[in-house]
Amino acid sequence: MKIAFKNDYSEGAHPSILERLVQTNPIQQAGYGFDEYTLAAKARIAALLDNPESQIYFVCGGTQTNLLVISHLLRPYESVIACDSGHIVDTEAGAIEATGHKIHLVPSINGKIQCEDIRKVVAHFGEPPHQVKPRLVYISNATELGSIYTLSELKAIYNTCHELGLLLFVDGARLAHALNAVGNDIHWVDLTRYTDAFYIGGTKNGALLGEAIVLNKKELQIGFDYYIKQKGALLAKGRLLGIQFLELFENDLLNQLARHANEQADRIRQKLIEKGVKFLSDSPTNQLFPILTNAQVSHLDERFEFYHWAVIDPDHTAIRLICSWATTTEEVDQLLNTIDECF
Ligand SMILES: Cc1ncc(COP(=O)(O)O)c(C=O)c1O
Repeated sequence: MKIAFKNDYSEGAHPSILERLVQTNPIQQAGYGFDEYTLAAKARIAALLDNPESQIYFVCGGTQTNLLVISHLLRPYESVIACDSGHIVDTEAGAIEATGHKIHLVPSINGKIQCEDIRKVVAHFGEPPHQVKPRLVYISNATELGSIYTLSELKAIYNTCHELGLLLFVDGARLAHALNAVGNDIHWVDLTRYTDAFYIGGTKNGALLGEAIVLNKKELQIGFDYYIKQKGALLAKGRLLGIQFLELFENDLLNQLARHANEQADRIRQKLIEKGVKFLSDSPTNQLFPILTNAQVSHLDERFEFYHWAVIDPDHTAIRLICSWATTTEEVDQLLNTIDECF
């Protein structure tokens, strides 16, 4: 069987999460997120965020999170600004558009949005009431191309948003990978100061499933618990999400797992740099996008699974290699040996 560097959700869950689910299995608890594990997990996350206004909500998946948060925060005629590589743009089956909201696409530079492009959209769509009203900026950290925002970039985007009357929402499917990347200078508290909403991904960082949504302002929280329930996203056995996040936020597991994935990816990055390979993006996280010759890609295809990401020219393809919390040193060694064979 081929070794997969295809996704960071190819494995199940970290063993200590499974153990915690098993240990707590026979214990009776309140439903719908009022169980003691969910309350404890929320308290742990809240302590890190250090913002008494922030509220935390657990749901199952990333697409569900994006569509719940975005459609909750917008009036029917309001729209979203995202860069063209954003996950909500091409990879969520039109989930946002299906809620009736237009997405304005702006160019992605290294996977990131630029403040001047946000300004251009607002300037162009500034004629009420004939056009949609831009109201929310969607970014992800780490981005779809594995790159990360710096604190000064985040602050600049947030300040631009607030000057223009826009909300800022950060998709954090791989937030732990971003916060643990070499070069990161964003801390948990910054996410409560310089975003209106964000989420902390569990699915791609060792949980069986689950995302923790954080809404930072009281006015944005009104009715969100009803909305989650009405959209069918509130689990009766909410404990399943609470237990997993409690485990992730105890003993530093969340950070350890993300660091492991980043470090294994870094071993691959170093080898490719040594070989003179160029990358589609500058990614310090667990996703790499090397540009290889088609012959090299075919050779790697024989032993490994990964995405062919983009055709660069008739002879070159950018591939995506991704490491997870469970990627072993031996698996990476095998990939490194095969890379050696390609050059
Ligand atoms: C940045 C980002 N956001 C959202 C999602 C969607 O998550 P899900 O597949 O759990 O719906 C993904 C999945 O790959 C993602 O990479």
